Amino acid sequence: MNILGIETSCDETAASVVKNGTEILSNVVATSAEMHVKTGGIIPEQAARQQVRSIIPVIEEALIKAFGSPITNYQSLITKIDAIAVTIGPGLIGSLLVGVETAKTLSFVWKKPIVPVNHLVGHIYANWLVTDKRQPTTNLPKFPALVLVVSGGHTDLVLMKNHGIFEWLGGTRDDAAGESFDKTARLLGLPYPGGPSISAESEKYFNQQLTVDNLQLKLFPRPLIHEKNFDWSFSGLKTAVLRELTNQPINKTSIPKFAAEIQEAIIDCLVEKSIRAMKTYKPKSFLLGGGVAANKRLREKFLKRIKSEKLQVFHVAAPGNLCTDNAAYIASAAFFNFKPVNWKKIFANPQFTIMG
Ligand code: KG4
Ligand code: ZN
Repeated sequence: MNILGIETSCDETAASVVKNGTEILSNVVATSAEMHVKTGGIIPEQAARQQVRSIIPVIEEALIKAFGSPITNYQSLITKIDAIAVTIGPGLIGSLLVGVETAKTLSFVWKKPIVPVNHLVGHIYANWLVTDKRQPTTNLPKFPALVLVVSGGHTDLVLMKNHGIFEWLGGTRDDAAGESFDKTARLLGLPYPGGPSISAESEKYFNQQLTVDNLQLKLFPRPLIHEKNFDWSFSGLKTAVLRELTNQPINKTSIPKFAAEIQEAIIDCLVEKSIRAMKTYKPKSFLLGGGVAANKRLREKFLKRIKSEKLQVFHVAAPGNLCTDNAAYIASAAFFNFKPVNWKKIFANPQFTIMG
């Protein structure tokens, strides 16, 4: 079954065709992130306007790349699509509406079933997409799976008992992990989006060290880290960074160390609580989802802890470009949770949580 996924929840306009939930036939992403560098963050109205400009060309490109037909043969492209999947939330309402209304229109005109997808649930399915390193049926995640979803606006730890069956274990009480990267990067004068900027600066610092194994990066606090729950609190990090910046103004040479300190503080909290949950719930798989999951240091630290604690858990992280927003995981989520809805009953919902 070929599903056309459409994702427009934030500043990416994405369309993808995925076969049987795992095989990516095409994956096209247009981003307006560069536009937001000037303002240091997203202006929702501008992101939505850019979505309107990009949506049709992006969908066309995804269809052409998937089936290799010229655009003149549109009808033959459409017959190869079995269903449409679309992100309905959470996200920015203006951006969401562009994808949702386009998908509904296509569903009506092309007479294809349409499946609404929760963006946060979608992120998890990056782990079902087949890549060079993973063959279709052998290495896919097994249930129950512990899932950490870390995006720009959300941080949730859930136990996934099967497709569509979740138990929420914990989450952030204030800022999301990605938000924390974005806001502290801004304080350091680094460009939007902050996660990749902080990660790149940290890499510079690590490259200057002989070994990164026993580095003492303890400048910033790790709130709630010893509490026996699965919650986080990241909002205090901004204040701590601001206070430190007034004590010791930064310059080009001190930014890499500062960035590494910030990154380590966020990652330590995420790793500690997730490892605690792995020990408590003994899941068969541990999955990462969301843009922050693209972070190299986070992935390394997880692998190391899983190994050193001898945890019997299947863990493979999706490639970075599948962790950040794209439509391939939306199509995959729709395949594994195939519940088409009449297009008239599909609405954008910016307030969705991972539990619906
Ligand atoms: O999932 P995503 O692409 O969009 C949302 O659904 O929010 O996540 C975006 C977030 C941003 O906060 C961005 O700074 C962060 O993911 N991010 C990263 C990295 N790449 C993206 N954070 C840390 N390290 C990265 N390499
Ligand atoms: Zn996302």
